[in-house]
Amino acid sequence: KKVKVCSPGTSANLGPGYDIFGLALSNPYDIVEVEKTENGITISVEGEKAEEIPTNVDENTAGVVAKKMIEDFKIESGIHIHIIKGIKPGSGLGSSSASCAGIAFALNELFELKLSKLELVKYSSLGEAVAAGAPHADNVAPAIFGGFTLTTSYEPLEVLHIPVDLEVLVALPNIQVSTKTAREILPKEIPIKDMVNNVGKAAGMVYALYNNDLDLFGRYMSKDCVVEPCRANLIDGYTEVKEKVKDMVYGITISGSGPAIITIPKKEHVIDIENIFKEVWNCPVYYTKVGPGCYVE
Ligand code: HSE
Repeated sequence: KKVKVCSPGTSANLGPGYDIFGLALSNPYDIVEVEKTENGITISVEGEKAEEIPTNVDENTAGVVAKKMIEDFKIESGIHIHIIKGIKPGSGLGSSSASCAGIAFALNELFELKLSKLELVKYSSLGEAVAAGAPHADNVAPAIFGGFTLTTSYEPLEVLHIPVDLEVLVALPNIQVSTKTAREILPKEIPIKDMVNNVGKAAGMVYALYNNDLDLFGRYMSKDCVVEPCRANLIDGYTEVKEKVKDMVYGITISGSGPAIITIPKKEHVIDIENIFKEVWNCPVYYTKVGPGCYVE
């Protein structure tokens, strides 16, 4: 028996929701296939930058997740994992999370483990620790739950889920940003007025979702005063693009630790925004909807 899972890209933070908010996209996505073998775990990878992804179990983020699940559930069979990367690694679109969530989801199906979504997020985030040095769950949570998620507690892990119907326009500039560096440059302490700003804006975004108020959602999403200003300098052209598209979008911010940029576009301006992205970065653009998270194909 073979299980094939489609595991989507995700956009973490959404401005003031650093390490808390996450959104599942419909595109791009990884495909994770897993089948039973006699023994051991083997991994093969194809697709976006596949040659840079280790296939050694302890270094591969999906491998780490699989190893732990196989140990915990005393699974006797071996497995082969085949990953087709549709999400470029190091993009800020949850590339490693997609593979981690995809394998947890696929093993749950293959071995009928009947794990809850929260348990799948826990297993998936073990792989994130390998990729980013810290087991943040704001990408794996939406990859498993779909829609919009809030990772409101890490110990114990708690995830809140809000289904949403949104269109987003994402640019993926061809710039290298390491998540590790993008985390290291953040301040260790912040002024209380910045906390008040970000808590207020993040809370307002949730209010906006419940009131279908895209204008408010996007306006607040663009107003993180802690993380985004530090990271903006890592993405050449970002400040210029943000200024140029400001009247064409409800909101714009860095996706995860970048370099991807996520916008909530005003429908009538989608083409104009795409043109600005192409003019400044000449890069891939995804016009997509918020998606359902992992599913069996
Ligand atoms: N919340 C994480 C960060 C996401 O911004 O560092 C990394 O993809």
